Amino acid sequence: MDAFFELHRDLPREGPGEPADIAWASNLVDLKPAAQMADVACGPGGDIAALLAAAPDGHVTALDKTAHFVGAARDAWTNDGRVTVLKADMARIMNRYDMIWCAGAVYFLGVTQALTAWRKSLHPGGVIAFSEACWFTDTPSDRAKSYWDREYPAMTDASGIAAQVSDAGYEVLGTRRLADPAWEAYFAPLEARINLLRPMANARVQAVLDEAEEEISCWRAHRDDYGYLLSVVRPR
Ligand SMILES: C[S@@+](CC[C@H](N)C(=O)[O-])C[C@H]1O[C@@H](n2cnc3c(N)ncnc32)[C@H](O)[C@@H]1O
Repeated sequence: MDAFFELHRDLPREGPGEPADIAWASNLVDLKPAAQMADVACGPGGDIAALLAAAPDGHVTALDKTAHFVGAARDAWTNDGRVTVLKADMARIMNRYDMIWCAGAVYFLGVTQALTAWRKSLHPGGVIAFSEACWFTDTPSDRAKSYWDREYPAMTDASGIAAQVSDAGYEVLGTRRLADPAWEAYFAPLEARINLLRPMANARVQAVLDEAEEEISCWRAHRDDYGYLLSVVRPR
């Protein structure tokens, strides 16, 4: 098995996030109970339950390009008619939605490019809610800067994200900085798996474990420097 999936299989989610984020976003826009929602780049589907809690009579189309994650989400939701799980590229979303949710994955396309591509997939009045890595200081520590220079050199701050949203012809309805429990919801199971795999890992897996440990440790040491910003936006 690929060293990445050796670590990342069976995790409940693949990035920071908690149900409170989705509750906040859906309350902000007064999401209707029968809302049509997309969970774009859903990973293993860790946000689907919270999306359904926000709109219990609605429907979630969850999609991801990675077969392994699509399989995990499908297995979990196969008996719920309110959920459809697709293996699909987020650059080409089909159908139309009241809310497009995208946790920690817009950067694969770029904020402006993603919002521009998804505009045609919104019902009138529909919104996009996305979380995106974000600097919260102009003077990050050397360690945080070097981590993110490797991982996401184009990472910007809240005003940079707002400018990218505006360039796509959208207005920002609200923003929220993801709280520590959102990070721990990702890191706690990841850390448990690192500890499980470490004793018998080969060199390739050890390298993946080292990388994940640095991700966790850097955030714990420098969480004031950076985080994720959740933005809820609507076409102007
Ligand atoms: C950081 S993970 C976030 C997953 C999930 N939203 C979560 O919070 O658990 C990023 C996800 O984006 C997916 N992805 C990357 N590029 C994609 C694309 N072009 N189309 C669909 N999914 C994509 C990956 O397979 C991965 O599951």
